[in-house]
Amino acid sequence: MTQQFRITLLPGDGIGPEITAVAIDVLKSVGAKLDLQFDFTEALIGGCAIDATGQPLPAATLETCRQSDAVMLAAIGGYKWDSLPRAQRPETGLLGLRAGLKLFANLRPATILPQLIDASSLKREVVEGVDIMVVRELTGGIYFGQPRGVFAADGDQRGVNTMAYTGTEIDRIGRVAFEAAQKRQGRLCSVDKANVLEVSQLWRDRITALSQDYTDVELTHLYVDNAAMQLLRWPKQFDTIVTGNLFGDILSDAAAMLTGSIGMLPSASLGASGPGVFEPVHGSAPDIAGQDKANPLAQVLSAAMMLRYGLNQPGAADMIETAVDTVLNQGYRTGDIMAEGLTAVGCKAMGEALLKALV
Ligand code: IPM
Ligand code: MG
Repeated sequence: MTQQFRITLLPGDGIGPEITAVAIDVLKSVGAKLDLQFDFTEALIGGCAIDATGQPLPAATLETCRQSDAVMLAAIGGYKWDSLPRAQRPETGLLGLRAGLKLFANLRPATILPQLIDASSLKREVVEGVDIMVVRELTGGIYFGQPRGVFAADGDQRGVNTMAYTGTEIDRIGRVAFEAAQKRQGRLCSVDKANVLEVSQLWRDRITALSQDYTDVELTHLYVDNAAMQLLRWPKQFDTIVTGNLFGDILSDAAAMLTGSIGMLPSASLGASGPGVFEPVHGSAPDIAGQDKANPLAQVLSAAMMLRYGLNQPGAADMIETAVDTVLNQGYRTGDIMAEGLTAVGCKAMGEALLKALV
């Protein structure tokens, strides 16, 4: 019997629509092969939503997402909207989506593909075999803590944000991370700034206490500055990393760049229940938008993560990941990952190659 899934598409801005088009074709083709039917509904988020409605996350978009089985987001933002007040910025829409769907767990894998080792800025022996999963807390910490704002203070101004975590928030992201580590190599590194911040001391204490429930996982702790250094020095020491919202934002970009191109990396944002959001780690690349130059592979791999983590269809996810591997082996490269002797293709042609590679 055909299985049906309701997918909300949020193509967003910049290169978002072109890479989404490729991912839709791939999903349809996989669906036809495996008897899965995807019902796509498109909605607005980010700059395009601001232009159409004045809001970066219209209420109708959030409602459509809530009614679906999974959400596939591409990218948001662009120069045009950069100077709007904070409440009307594209980023505020994305943060509202995360909060509105209670997506507290963000999984960001950084795996180096053997075909792309030379695209990394680090030496081959340093990056070969790197396979890291960053588990980032996504709905708390300094991104959401109160008080926040810019206040008048004694004839001066004072900008304030608050880094806060409750024990409950730490435990729930901790459990996701320990469980992820159990399915990987069984090593978890918790990253904080416990030498300076009380909130980080609580983080460390709670993660340490949780480890009693996961005796098969080897837990270590690093301060965030050292973690940044270690990621560049010897990234293979890491298996699974768990950290708060801001540190995770920064470290996941660093981990992503180990692999050579941020244009290759997917992510999953999950809550305790309800639909997850699956999106590439990269941004909307307004400089190349609409020119058929974008790399659609992170979007396509996000569709694979959606199938694996959001819709429980590991076979379909495998099929997509294998196709990505195949097109890279065949030598197809978009501009961001191009190297001598290989075949330069645009976004559409990469999509066509993927469709042929799906078996
Ligand atoms: C990310 C992005 C976002 C974040 C921005 C666009 C709000 O950098 O998803 O990592 O900081 O979380
Ligand atoms: Mg970021």
